[in-house]
Amino acid sequence: MTIDWNEEGAPPGPGHVVPSGPEFEGEVDLTTDYLGLELRSPLVASAGPFTGDLPSLRALDAAGIGAVVLPSLFEEQLEHESTQFEALSQYGSGANPEAVTGYVPTLDDYNNGVSRYLALVREAKKLTSVPVIASLNGVTTGGWTRYARLLSEAGADAIELNVYRVAADLDVSGRQIELETLALVEAVVGASSIPVSVKLGPYYSAFGNLARQLADAGAAGLVLFNRFYQPDINLESLSVGPHLVLSTSDELRLPLRWCAILHGRIGASIAATTGIHTGKDLAKVLLAGANVGMSTSALLRHGPDHTATILDELEAWMKDTGYASVEEMTGAVSQRTVREPAQFERANYLDTLTRYASTFLQ
Ligand SMILES: Cc1cc2nc3c(=O)[nH]c(=O)nc-3n(C[C@H](O)[C@H](O)[C@H](O)COP(=O)(O)O)c2cc1C
Repeated sequence: MTIDWNEEGAPPGPGHVVPSGPEFEGEVDLTTDYLGLELRSPLVASAGPFTGDLPSLRALDAAGIGAVVLPSLFEEQLEHESTQFEALSQYGSGANPEAVTGYVPTLDDYNNGVSRYLALVREAKKLTSVPVIASLNGVTTGGWTRYARLLSEAGADAIELNVYRVAADLDVSGRQIELETLALVEAVVGASSIPVSVKLGPYYSAFGNLARQLADAGAAGLVLFNRFYQPDINLESLSVGPHLVLSTSDELRLPLRWCAILHGRIGASIAATTGIHTGKDLAKVLLAGANVGMSTSALLRHGPDHTATILDELEAWMKDTGYASVEEMTGAVSQRTVREPAQFERANYLDTLTRYASTFLQ
C-alpha cells in the first residue's frame, strides 16, 4: 500500500521515517511515550462520563486502552471548598474562641467533592493496569491549585489541566489571557510532583508561540484541543441552553494540523483530542506528530469495547503500510518531514478554492 502523502502524491521530504517495508508481517509495537509515561497503546480515553464509572474503566482496560483521563474536578467547585477550608482553619485558632465548642465539620463533611474525586483516583488505580490521569478544570491561580498535590498523593500518574475559557470580556486582551494561563500552569506544575499536561482551545492568536511558552513553563504535554460547547437558542421558549453534540471524524483536521506544526518543535508531549473515531483517524494524528490520540465521542457512541476495534484497525493499517512501531510512525507526516510544509499552514488556500469552484461549475 502506498501512502497518499499529499494531493500531488509527492514523496516525503527529508527527515521522514520510511516504513520498515512494503508490508509488515510480525507483531507491531504499539507502545508510546506520553508525559514520560510508557503507555502500552497510543489510544487514551479522554475525560468523559465513562472514565468516572468503575465498570467502564475496567472495560477500557480490558480492551487495551493506553491510559485514562478521569472527568474534571472544576475550579468553581474547588474554590468554594477552598474558601470553606480557609474559614475552617481559622475557626478555633484563637480568632474566634467562643465558637470552638460549636459544630466543627470533619473534612469529609464539607469537602465532599474532593474526597469523592480522590476516592475515584484511588479506585481507578486499583482497578486498572494503566496510568490514571486526573483532570483539573480552571483558569485562575486561586487556592484550588493546592489540590494538585492531593491528586498525586491519591495515586494519579499525571494531571491534565483543562483551561476551558471563552474570552468574552472585552476589557481583557489576548496577551493578558496568555499570561494568566502561563501563571496558572506554573502554579499547578509547582504544586505537583507528577507530570502536568495542559488541555486548551485553539482560539489563541498565535497558538504555536503559546504552545512553546507553555512547554517552557513546565507543561509536560499539550492536549489539542478543547471542544467548546456552543449555546443554542430555543425558538419556542426563547431561552438559551447548552447544546452538546458528539463529534465526528470530520473534526479531526484542526488537531491534525497543529500536531503536525508542533511536532519536534516544543519540549512537551502532544495528545490529539476531537474527532478520533477509527483506527485510521488515530493513524493520522500519530503520523502528524501526536504521541497519543484521545477519544470520548466514539467510546460513548459504541461503548468502551470500541477501544479494541480502533486499535485493531490501527494495527492492520500499520502492517499493510509497513510500520513496525508507533514510534516509527510518530511525526512521519509532520510539517518537518513532508515535502510541502506549507500544506499545513495555508493548505494551498487558493488552489483548494479554485479546485472546488471548478468542480461546482462543471
Ligand atoms: C459528555 C462529555 C463530558 C465531558 N467531560 C469532560 C471533562 O470533565 N473534562 C474535560 O477535560 N473534557 C471533557 N469532555 C471533553 C472530552 O474529553 C473530549 O476532549 C471531547 O469530547 C473531544 O473528543 P471527542 O471528539 O473524542 O469526543 C467531555 C465530553 C463529553 C462528550
